[in-house]
Amino acid sequence: MNVLIIGSGGREHALAWKISQSQEVKKIFIAPGNGGTHLENNIENINLTDIEDLINFAIKQKIDLTVVGPEAPLANGIVDSFKDNNLTIFGPTKAAAQLESSKEFSKEFMARHNIPTAKFATFENSLSAHEYINNNPAPIVIKADGLASGKGVVVAMTDKDAHDAVDAMLSDKLFGNAGTKIIIEEFLVGEEASFIVICDGSTILPLDSSQDHKRLLDNDAGPNTGGMGAYSPAPLVTDEINQKIMDQVITPTIEGMKKEGIEFSGFLYAGIIVDAESNIKTLEFNCRMGDPETQPILFRMQGDLFSVLYKAAKQQLHGIEIKWEDEHAITIVMACKNYPTKPILGNEIELPDTKDKNTFIFHAGTVLKNQKLLTSGGRVLGITAKGETLEIAKNKAYSVLKKVKFDGAQFRTDIGKKALN
Ligand SMILES: Nc1ncnc2c1ncn2[C@@H]1O[C@H](COP(=O)(O)OP(=O)(O)OP(=O)(O)O)[C@@H](O)[C@H]1O
Ligand SMILES: [Mg+2]
Repeated sequence: MNVLIIGSGGREHALAWKISQSQEVKKIFIAPGNGGTHLENNIENINLTDIEDLINFAIKQKIDLTVVGPEAPLANGIVDSFKDNNLTIFGPTKAAAQLESSKEFSKEFMARHNIPTAKFATFENSLSAHEYINNNPAPIVIKADGLASGKGVVVAMTDKDAHDAVDAMLSDKLFGNAGTKIIIEEFLVGEEASFIVICDGSTILPLDSSQDHKRLLDNDAGPNTGGMGAYSPAPLVTDEINQKIMDQVITPTIEGMKKEGIEFSGFLYAGIIVDAESNIKTLEFNCRMGDPETQPILFRMQGDLFSVLYKAAKQQLHGIEIKWEDEHAITIVMACKNYPTKPILGNEIELPDTKDKNTFIFHAGTVLKNQKLLTSGGRVLGITAKGETLEIAKNKAYSVLKKVKFDGAQFRTDIGKKALN
C-alpha cells in the first residue's frame, strides 16, 4: 500500500513514523514533510501543497490512503476534492470540518444538541460586543470565529483586556477574515484534557487521553502557543470522566452531525474542562489530532495505525479495537528563539544519537539543507519518551533534551508536573 500524509509538523512526523511500521505499507510520501521525515528511510518528502497538485500526485503514484494532519486543508475542502476523484482519504469534509473552522457553527451546534459548553454570544459589531462585556464583566473569554493557529483566543482577566481583544479582532482585524465574527464566552474554571476519537461516520473508536500545555512558560505563564508539551494518558480522565465525555460530548456530536446530514469521518478532538465536582464542559472541537498530543499518544499505541485509518476511511471501523501500552509517554516541545511572536529561524541543530527505543525525537520546524539540519519553524522538535511511570518518562525526555543544541532554544521545564502532583 502507498500512503500520502499531508502536513509538516511534529504531528505529521509521528503519524508517518507510526504508519511506516505497518507490514502492509510499502511506501510513504509526506507533503511537504520536514527535516525529520526527510531523514527517515521509508518516507519521502514531496514539495507540494496545492490540492490539485496533490490529487494529480496521488493518482500518478497510486496512493491507497491519504491522511490529513492539519486543519487548514480540511477547512479548504481537501477531503471533498480527493473523494470527487475517487481517492481514499481519511478526514472530515469541508462541511464536517466546520466544527473546528467556525467557532460559531460549533457553539450553535452544541446548543442545538444539548452538549455541555460555556454560555456564549456571537458579535460582528464592536459596539454591541463592548456593551455585552459591560453587562458580563471579566473574567471572560473572547474568541475569533475562524482558524487562527491556536492564537485566536484571549482569556481576559480584566475588563480592559476584554475590550482590547474586541477592538483588536473586530476593529483592527488582527486575524483578518478569521476574526470578522467573534464569540464571547463565559469563563470556565477547571482542569483541561484532550480527548480524541477516530470516527468512520458512525463507529467511534476513542484514543487514550492526553493533556497539552498551551502556554509558553512554566506554571502556565506567558502567551498561548500551538502547544509546548503533552503527556498520555491524562490521570484527570478517569473511567468515570471518560464515560461522561463519550455520553455527553462525543456520541451526541457524531449522531447530531449525522441527523443534520453531515457525516463526520476523521479524527474528532474535544477539548474538555473538568470542574471540581467532576462536571465536564466542551471548550472546543478540532477536526484533526492535536499537536503535540499525537506524539505521546502514538508512542504508546500498539498495533497497526495504517490498518485502523484505512478501515475508518472505508467505513469499516466496526469491531476494531486499539490496545495501549501501560507505559506513560511524554513529549517536550523545543521551540526557537522569539516563538511565538517573531520566531528566529535558520539556526543549525545538533542532535544526539539516541539508540534507546523508549525515546524518540519527532521533528516539526526543521529542514535539511546541504546536509545540515536547520530550524525552519516556531516549534522545532518534540522530545518524546516513555516509561513505567510519568516521572520516569519525563526524566528520560529531559535527559535527551539536554543533549540537543540550537541557538535560542526555548522549552518548559514543568511538562507533566500537574499530573505528578
Ligand atoms: N470558556 C473558557 N473558559 C476558560 N478558558 C478557556 C475557555 N475557552 C478557552 N479557554 C482557554 O483557551 C484555550 C484555547 O481555547 P480554544 O481551544 O477554544 O482555542 P483554539 O485556538 O481553537 O485552540 P487549539 O489551538 O487547541 O485548537 C483553551 O485550551 C483554554 O485554556
Ligand atoms: Mg481549536
